[in-house]
Amino acid sequence: MTPAATKAAPSEDRRAAGPAVTKPVSPWDIKKLRRDFPALHQKIHGKPLIYLDNAATTQKPRPVIDAVTRFYELDNANVHRAIYELGERATQAYEAARQKVAAFINVPDWHSIVFTRGATEAINLVAYAWGRYSLGPGDEILVTEMEHHSNLIPWQLAARDTGATLRYVPLKENGTLQIEALDDVLTARTKLVAVVHKSNVLGTVNPVREIVQRARELGALVLLDGAQSVPHFQVNVQELDCDFLAFSGHKMLGPTGVGVLYGRPELLESMEPFQGGGEMISMVSMEQATWNDIPWKFEAGTPNIAQAVGLGAAIDYLEKLGMDRIEDYMHQLTDYARGVLSQLQGLTLYGQDSNSSSAIAFNLEGVHPHDLSQLLDQEGIAVRAGHHCAQPLTHRLGVSATTRASLYVYNTPDEIDRLAEGIERVRTFLGV
Ligand code: ALA
Repeated sequence: MTPAATKAAPSEDRRAAGPAVTKPVSPWDIKKLRRDFPALHQKIHGKPLIYLDNAATTQKPRPVIDAVTRFYELDNANVHRAIYELGERATQAYEAARQKVAAFINVPDWHSIVFTRGATEAINLVAYAWGRYSLGPGDEILVTEMEHHSNLIPWQLAARDTGATLRYVPLKENGTLQIEALDDVLTARTKLVAVVHKSNVLGTVNPVREIVQRARELGALVLLDGAQSVPHFQVNVQELDCDFLAFSGHKMLGPTGVGVLYGRPELLESMEPFQGGGEMISMVSMEQATWNDIPWKFEAGTPNIAQAVGLGAAIDYLEKLGMDRIEDYMHQLTDYARGVLSQLQGLTLYGQDSNSSSAIAFNLEGVHPHDLSQLLDQEGIAVRAGHHCAQPLTHRLGVSATTRASLYVYNTPDEIDRLAEGIERVRTFLGV
């Protein structure tokens, strides 16, 4: 058997039996909630849209769309530059969003919240503004075999440019990390542990508290890729005690083009700028410049102001739902989906960790994931197929690609049933 793969059959999947196939009830009025999401109410190829690609990006609720529209209609001006009313309003809205982000991840000092274009840019910021100045030959960067490329390629490049070495925490058969391997791969040479908090392919949640503790003992910094964790459960930076946390707005109901880097303030203070330009400076002469305070030192040029405001509205929306309730519902819906899918003939599910949720990767025997995805699209069902920007993980699964259904707050058990029916129809249609 390839690592992390399980041939789905009711007897082999504990979630297939008993209560796991009981339809979960959402902790909110889901019909009412779905009315907030205009994009969900359309037909694709004549069938009602079933959107199951939330790990790639989520749909946007009306309050987020309205916040962005209202900003452009009423408050639009550049930030930190104008002393007229509109400029002050724009600055106030932008900085209020920063404070909302800080509170959302329990960061006491909002100066440690840098707005970026997304999680990818946040990680690149650290790889350039910290990595290029702090790493050298003999140093090691520790990542895992389940990283998204956004938390892998920046470190491959940093290692190439500095002479540092990249090491990996391997995976177990069930798609979780071999934590015991930390004894070998986390050493006094490790300068940074860059680890994904929750896998975008398998939904696995990594034991990051333990990883942070172990890294601390050896004096290594820890960067968490929170792109999939922050949207799904309460991420508490003070509790996790990480040095950096990166995430994206668009995977948590917010607009595209805005993301966040949390950095320990003293680290951000000590780092070099990432990009040069307006806003990030204090004094500029013909010969040299000094830098603005954090976080603005890292926000060269005009930031994505409306998008940050939209992210603030997304956080309000998520907080109204309650992060604990979101986490709980996602677990229940994932268990239901695994239970239903595991009964389908010829379907292999990957990653069977009881702690994983919301992303389910699978393959239908004899059908390429791209074909499956394309045929499901004809049924109005949007799922992603391919390597999901995590090729080393796909390789470890022993396949070239998978199909992935990823869930969020507006998805329902009936949609999972439609997915299962859709897969069945594809199987019958292709005669596999
Ligand atoms: N990170 C995104 C995904 O998993 C693009 O699909």
